[in-house]
Amino acid sequence: MKIIVIGGTGTIGKAIVKELATRHSVIVAGHQHGDIKVDIKDAHSIEKMYQAVSAVDAVVTAVGKVHFGEFAAMTAENYEIGLKDKLMGQVNVVLIGCKYLNDKGSFTLTSGILSHDPIRFGSSASMVNGALDSFTKAAAIEMPRGIRINTVSPTVITEAMGSYAEYFHGFEPVSAARAALAYSKSVEGLQTGQIYRVG
Ligand SMILES: NC(=O)c1ccc[n+]([C@@H]2O[C@H](COP(=O)([O-])OP(=O)(O)OC[C@H]3O[C@@H](n4cnc5c(N)ncnc54)[C@H](OP(=O)(O)O)[C@@H]3O)[C@@H](O)[C@H]2O)c1
Repeated sequence: MKIIVIGGTGTIGKAIVKELATRHSVIVAGHQHGDIKVDIKDAHSIEKMYQAVSAVDAVVTAVGKVHFGEFAAMTAENYEIGLKDKLMGQVNVVLIGCKYLNDKGSFTLTSGILSHDPIRFGSSASMVNGALDSFTKAAAIEMPRGIRINTVSPTVITEAMGSYAEYFHGFEPVSAARAALAYSKSVEGLQTGQIYRVG
């Protein structure tokens, strides 16, 4: 299969690329690094990425920023960051990608544990992750040409504990390699409309 991994240079993305590259042709897309540059916040940039690659079998997104902050101090602008980046960035990869994906292709997005297991400072992440999970279930039943869509919802990743440990006391981290198996199941299996919780 020809697979684009957007965010393939990141903590989770690198492990996904490692898992899939032994069996498939993987194109790593990133913002600053990778085989191809894309900004998921910019529909024109997404369109250009698909035009450059063409005839794709699977697209994986392991990407997306949200603002972490005390709920009482959160502003509309703070929420906008997650809505425009992690939520609509991934949604636009799907909307635009529907034109470019091969028949029976697949999308695999990334949400996260905070949709159902909230933490202090995580209201924006919880909101966006919940929206991505719901979007996946709804989009799956209307996907054209046999295209599938799933989302991976990992807990905190061991390799990211350096930055996230303070927020995630009491959570058991999982390795990026273990999370990557869920992406493999989504891309290489036949299921659709699934939220794969890892951890
Ligand atoms: N890390 C965790 O513990 C964890 C747990 C659960 C869920 N998640 C979710 O998993 C996703 C990936 O997290 P991560 O920790 O692996 O991220 P990360 O290490 O910060 O990597 C981010 C990746 O996204 C790319 N990127 C950044 N902004 C972009 C943009 N505007 N357009 C296209 N690509 C862009 C980066 O490319 P460059 O290298 O080129 O900048 C990089 O490849 C996020 O949605 C995060 O919320 C993470």
